[in-house]
Amino acid sequence: MVRLLILGGLTLATLATVLAAVLGPWGWWIPAAVFLLLLLVGVRDATQRKHSVLRNFPVLGHMRFFLEKIRPEIQQYFIERNYDGKPFDRDQRSLVYSRAKGFKGDKAFGTELDVNEPGYEYFVQSVAPRAAPKDEHRVRLGGPDCRQPYDASLLNISAMSFGSLSKNAVLAMNKGAAKGGFAQETGEGGLTKYHLAHDADIIWEFGSGYFGTRDADGHFDPEIFREKANLPQVKAVNIKLSQGAKPGLGGVLPGAKVTQEIAEARGVPEGQTCISPASHSAFTTPRELVRFLAQLRELSNGKPVGFKLCVGSRVEFLAICKAMIEEGVTPDFIIVDGAEGGTGAAPLEYQDHVGTPLVEGLILVHNALVGAGLRDRIKLGCAGKITSGHDIVRHIIQGADFCMSARAMMMAVGCIQAQACHTNKCPVGVTTQDPRLYRALDVEDKGDRVERYHRLTVEEAGQIISTMGCDHPEELTREMLRRKVTATQSISYESLYQWLTPGQLFEGVEGGWGEDWDYADPDRFTAGHPGKYVFNDRGPLSPGGVVPAADRKYALAGAGVRAGGGPGPGPALRDDDGARAAGGVVAGPGAAGQRTPSPAAAEAAAETPGESTPGTSTRPEGEPGTAPGAQHTLRDPAPEPGNVDPDDDSRTRNPGLA
Ligand SMILES: Cc1cc2nc3c(=O)[nH]c(=O)nc-3n(C[C@H](O)[C@H](O)[C@H](O)COP(=O)(O)O)c2cc1C
Ligand code: SF4
Repeated sequence: MVRLLILGGLTLATLATVLAAVLGPWGWWIPAAVFLLLLLVGVRDATQRKHSVLRNFPVLGHMRFFLEKIRPEIQQYFIERNYDGKPFDRDQRSLVYSRAKGFKGDKAFGTELDVNEPGYEYFVQSVAPRAAPKDEHRVRLGGPDCRQPYDASLLNISAMSFGSLSKNAVLAMNKGAAKGGFAQETGEGGLTKYHLAHDADIIWEFGSGYFGTRDADGHFDPEIFREKANLPQVKAVNIKLSQGAKPGLGGVLPGAKVTQEIAEARGVPEGQTCISPASHSAFTTPRELVRFLAQLRELSNGKPVGFKLCVGSRVEFLAICKAMIEEGVTPDFIIVDGAEGGTGAAPLEYQDHVGTPLVEGLILVHNALVGAGLRDRIKLGCAGKITSGHDIVRHIIQGADFCMSARAMMMAVGCIQAQACHTNKCPVGVTTQDPRLYRALDVEDKGDRVERYHRLTVEEAGQIISTMGCDHPEELTREMLRRKVTATQSISYESLYQWLTPGQLFEGVEGGWGEDWDYADPDRFTAGHPGKYVFNDRGPLSPGGVVPAADRKYALAGAGVRAGGGPGPGPALRDDDGARAAGGVVAGPGAAGQRTPSPAAAEAAAETPGESTPGTSTRPEGEPGTAPGAQHTLRDPAPEPGNVDPDDDSRTRNPGLA
């Protein structure tokens, strides 16, 4: 009915205007032509079979498509408030843009957040803040078996492959990392000439496709690995087990996108579809994973090795911990990616509904390592929407030692959150392989922006740590971060979550932790055991639910790995000097997980109160913050930043335009 009315109306209008044009002034031909055109469009809409809305509402239906098209811009420019845009809000974006331009990004007039809303989090500052540090806090990646430790920045560039990023984006990030003295992680697409261009510190990542280190069948090739891992730029090696935006999913790069350059970087034939499988072929059990880590460390001549995962099953992670203990091998670092993490392209179901969010995953991994007496040997990194100094500090309090950032670094090189990365049409040349688009990304300018964004953000993190009365990240405590749980009540992280004490898993933990630990098997990955998964468990799942008797090897108090180095007949790891501990794991040099500074270090600390002395923390094991061994490195003096970006009118305009 509506269709006939529209077509009838257009026919009448066309006839009337044609008649007027024939009988009257020639100017009537203009509306006549317009109505004729609309009539033709209407007839085509009414007869096509693809779009029902056009069939039923010819011509008018196009309005819907037009509005849909401009909806994201309307949303971003007119509707979104400064603090609720997604995935990154205007405040976060404008902060990155301002810092990339060399401004601290100060704002006027006070917070726009509702500070009484449940979920709001705040730091507890001290009445006696410390002076802001002159140098940068660094985190030592390098456990007892590592022979070439690397002192990482608190913030580094998270894995993004050449292929998902344009070559200019990789180059700009590489330049920024080199200038700022922090690390760029390659992404699983291989270590390319662009990652080596500016001599930045590189964390080389590979995933289940072993791109850049694979044989003709797509399996891991140790010889290719050895050659690349020993390049001086490669400071650490990271195995990707899973990624927050698409955990458990492999990837397909269509043949059309496998250009000569990408084929060369990945070690695959040009023009042929390139598949990364969902799981690794180099290992199929936790024990094999741990042995593989040891193999990589040997092949790389003792460089730090680690793995990255988005946390899934706690049982599986505990199984990896057991494998570490039984094999006497630990990674030097683990990076936890949150389900909120980014991707070049992934199914929406995976982005929205698969994987553990960062804070839960981080706390789970931290707890598992503490409970298994392994935390002192492994540094913990994390990634997931980290943009500010506040993010860095809160994640350290939640259990991390260092942070990785992908999308904020993309913003620093010009990303305006158009979210078209998967279309090869990125308007600012960050995630496209189209040279007409990526040539607009100026490597020199954007490289400087990456360096400035990093420097100012890490400085702000250092400033916040000082404001809380601490000289080092390792002095932070869980009491210093509080969350509003109701409008009238806030709880510190110490009380909000269950925190295991060093070696507690060997003593028998009531409830889910104990049951999962008992069930975890170093010889098989298995997601869980029927009906037993509880994350923030505080009590037994079943009456008397202390660790059941199934696997007493790990449950017997005193018989297994003990924090503090207590002897026992259980499985053994090397101590910090590389020697086998006499019985149990030496998780900390002092008793009960307390760290005792060496006499020389204590002397140095006494001489320079308030100054950093690496490795002298007295923070008990299991407390958050960078653990001993974190080095502080002086950076080149940088120009004093202005506080306010004069171009930043993001509270009134879209920051992407600034
Ligand atoms: C364009 C893009 C490509 C990515 N490629 C990889 C990759 O190759 N390997 C990987 O482990 N993670 C990859 N990630 C995930 C990031 O490294 C990071 O873990 C995640 O985005 C969370 O950090 P963010 O919130 O700061 O972006 C990619 C992310 C983006 C946005
Ligand atoms: S501007 Fe858009 S398409 Fe380009 S990187 Fe950013 S989100 Fe992706």
